[in-house]
Amino acid sequence: MSTTVVEPATGRAMAEVPDAGPEDVDRAVARARAAFPAWRDVAPADRARLLLRLADAVEAELEPLAVLEARNAGHAIASARGEIGMVAATFRYFAGGVERHLGDTIPVAGGVAMTFREPLGVVGLITPWNFPLPIASWKLAPALAAGNCAILKPAELTPLTAIELERIALEAGIPEGVFQVVAGPGPTVGARLVEHPGVAKIAFTGSTRVGAGIQRDTAATTKRVTLELGGKSANVVFADADLEAAAAAAPGAVFDNAGQDCCARSRILVERSAIDRFLDLLEPAVAAFTVGDPLDGDAHMGPLISAAHREKVASFVPDDAAVAFRGAAPEGDGFWFPPTVLCPVDPSSPAAREEIFGPVVAVLPFDDEADAVRLANDSIYGLSGSIWTRDGGRALRVARGIESGVLSINSNSSVRVSTPFGGFKRSGVGRELGPHAMEAYSELKTVYWATGA
Ligand code: NAI
Ligand code: MG
Repeated sequence: MSTTVVEPATGRAMAEVPDAGPEDVDRAVARARAAFPAWRDVAPADRARLLLRLADAVEAELEPLAVLEARNAGHAIASARGEIGMVAATFRYFAGGVERHLGDTIPVAGGVAMTFREPLGVVGLITPWNFPLPIASWKLAPALAAGNCAILKPAELTPLTAIELERIALEAGIPEGVFQVVAGPGPTVGARLVEHPGVAKIAFTGSTRVGAGIQRDTAATTKRVTLELGGKSANVVFADADLEAAAAAAPGAVFDNAGQDCCARSRILVERSAIDRFLDLLEPAVAAFTVGDPLDGDAHMGPLISAAHREKVASFVPDDAAVAFRGAAPEGDGFWFPPTVLCPVDPSSPAAREEIFGPVVAVLPFDDEADAVRLANDSIYGLSGSIWTRDGGRALRVARGIESGVLSINSNSSVRVSTPFGGFKRSGVGRELGPHAMEAYSELKTVYWATGA
């Protein structure tokens, strides 16, 4: 059995990847467990140096990796270059963590207690198709830095850059068995990683539905689990904001990667007195957000990932939907969908509540600060969000009031290698990236040493 990998811009096959089965997971776990003691005991400075070499090796192949990711995932090439650059930066950041993975000494009666951060052993990484290599690196880099061995199961639709990363890691000197890729279907290969008694942790990014099932199924073997799931983030625009800047930035905040981004600001909440003016400013910004061939350097976004996903996205824009305006998309065999702005939108409608994961945004009015916070929080999700205002006190009050893991003020940025990333509520469990990420790939061990009375 094998999976035909399709190029979403053309709808044509670009590669054939053999499907692993559950028995391949079992073999990979056995290899990883065999490799673990030696990897755990590599001198910290040497492990750091290997991760730096991996970062350099990714950077040396940045262009071919970016082209492969752009073709397979349909990303605009300029974005893909930035993403592969971030992969290298992620390995570099966590290389710096290896020798700063500190414990404590704690004064106690009759002696001293000290804590150590011990690796978990073998960890399973299950990743989605929307940002294939960056999301893999956010898990792999801290896992390896903390001394674990890792098995990565990439998404069926986008396994190609992960397979390349396995080769690059071996060439960079990461020992055999420390990092393996097992490509295959979620319900068989992913599920085997989730249930395998030799796997200590699952780090997952993907849909809230599958994530909830993983949380349930990891309980049987008491695995550690981190989940990075869906979002329906709010871009909150107050009337006193720099409306030009907010409107100019809004299309990128939701249409980048064709909206297939868990941090997509897919709800724009605008103070009622400014909504007409904001829409007037938004319309040309949306028109200027060009959709086209991912390898064309001028395109801001490419196609959706698959025909099935395009159907799902289209279901949120029925014929009677209130489309305020929309951009243009190419004709042809790719899975194209135009940037689409809905207004007015019923706050209880699916377009206002569900993760569409496509280039569709709902614009909704609010009356005052309290109403803005209430509307922003009127969601099962809490991943990201933005606040646009010139009132500094209000900016921080609203940021504190919104139940989300990552917020930005007068900006739509979400993910940085050096800051924690993850969700409140049903957007997930745990955090990735930033100074604490290695904690989620280690156990805290306390050793008490009696010094005598
Ligand atoms: P998914 O959650 O089904 O897939 C994510 C990963 O989980 C893939 O590697 C898949 O093979 C694996 N998987 C699937 N079933 C599994 C199982 N039973 N056990 C273990 N692993 C399993 O996501 P899918 O179907 O690709 O996308 C569906 C929707 O999910 C999207 O339309 C979007 O709304 C949302 N999504 C959200 C993402 C995010 O970044 N938060 C990423 C991808 C999808
Ligand atoms: Mg699925």
